[in-house]
Amino acid sequence: MRRFLEPSPAVLYLPYIAHGQQPEMEYVMRESTARAFMFTGIGISTMVIRILVILALVPIVLVISGIPGRAAEPIDVHCLVYLDENEDGQHQPQEPGLPGVRVTNGVDVLSTDAMGSVDLQVDPDDYRFVTMTISSGYWPTDAWYHRLDSTTSRADTVRFGLRPAPELSGNSFRWIHIADTQINSLMYYPLAADIQAMNRLELPPVFIVNTGDIVNDGHVRAEWEYYLDQMSVSEIPVFNVVGNHDDDSNELSLALYEEYVGPPYYSFDIGDWHFITFNTWRRYIHTPSQAEWLDRDAAQAPPGSRLVVFEHFSLRYGFPEVLQQFVDLGIQAVFSGHHHFINLSTHPAGIGDYSMVWPRGGGRDWTPRSYSLVSCHEDGSIDFEIKRLLIDHRTILTSPASEDATCGPEVPILVQAYDSAAAPVDLTAHMYDPSGIPLEVVPLSREGISLWRGAFSTDGWPTGEYRIEVHGNFDGVITESCG
Ligand SMILES: [Fe+2]
Repeated sequence: MRRFLEPSPAVLYLPYIAHGQQPEMEYVMRESTARAFMFTGIGISTMVIRILVILALVPIVLVISGIPGRAAEPIDVHCLVYLDENEDGQHQPQEPGLPGVRVTNGVDVLSTDAMGSVDLQVDPDDYRFVTMTISSGYWPTDAWYHRLDSTTSRADTVRFGLRPAPELSGNSFRWIHIADTQINSLMYYPLAADIQAMNRLELPPVFIVNTGDIVNDGHVRAEWEYYLDQMSVSEIPVFNVVGNHDDDSNELSLALYEEYVGPPYYSFDIGDWHFITFNTWRRYIHTPSQAEWLDRDAAQAPPGSRLVVFEHFSLRYGFPEVLQQFVDLGIQAVFSGHHHFINLSTHPAGIGDYSMVWPRGGGRDWTPRSYSLVSCHEDGSIDFEIKRLLIDHRTILTSPASEDATCGPEVPILVQAYDSAAAPVDLTAHMYDPSGIPLEVVPLSREGISLWRGAFSTDGWPTGEYRIEVHGNFDGVITESCG
């Protein structure tokens, strides 16, 4: 009888049964507190008093929340984009301006002149920022957007520093797509641990994009602070997108979104790829000029750019007018979240429609907790690897099983090996005879996401108890063996 010892008790795939999963979600359109209050069935005198109280409170609420007053005047802004030679985030007089860098006020897309300067006028009803489109081959040494004080119409000045980043000039690179982190007030989700796994990737992705529902309750300041605290471990730049939960119940969510993660729409370039973040929700986050901006932003992208959009809703469930605009502009692909399942398809309109499961719990489609490692290629194609989260160097010999008895001309070897960040490589199986003498080593071949396969010929083997070891490593960094 031939018996084989199972090398490790580790389990490869944790079949997450939708930990933290929510039932089909209802998006209840709540009215503002003030409106609900005014329409209660109360006596006329009481109503008058309460309305007066509400009116008295409005300016206070607007000031506290930082929401642009509807009567706010446009703000004149002088903007300088410069080469930050010493990369200190400060503009020194000898540091030259950079011409041809696009800057927006949320409607117009203007380019800096030969001195790196551009003047804009920002209407807070449209947009509360001056935002730079990060140019290919450069990276900001400080901020790429400037939030204006919309409680005043005083003129403002902003300086954006850029440093050369040749690693961001090519057309082939990887980036990470996550969606619906949806931090709630219980704050149990250890997002930082997931981000640490992404930090460990052998070939660093150039950015992470979170396509919305960053928090569960956009008006709750503590959720935003928890999110930023967890994301602070990221060694990879992070871009954010507006989701319906971020913009959830009142105008305070506008102020908090913009305070914590910046403008509701913007763009950036890497190589020939032009990435556009787009606010498809637009309930309280006022972006009335976004469609106009999108036309201008796309038109001024470098000639030949491949256009990719990040938004919260999948194209399949989005707004028809938005879809038509994307078609007209030649958008190649849209990455989204919201639905809590993985969708990798092409929309009938010809646009790639890619939606990710939420990483906090399993998906509605029973997908385990995952993120997407996306590759943009030189030829303009895009592909993905869906990576399971929090799986740390798991390896298991699944066949032959421990205590198994087998016979025949060969013994097939099946190994499952997986890690959230690293790729297992160079797996070999080592067979020892009943007296512990090494018999043979066979290389294993990878099949699919995690399965490795090989076989030993049993020709001339005596009956007895045999032992198998599997050796390999993860991205050539940490050597693993089991036996
Ligand atoms: Fe959502």
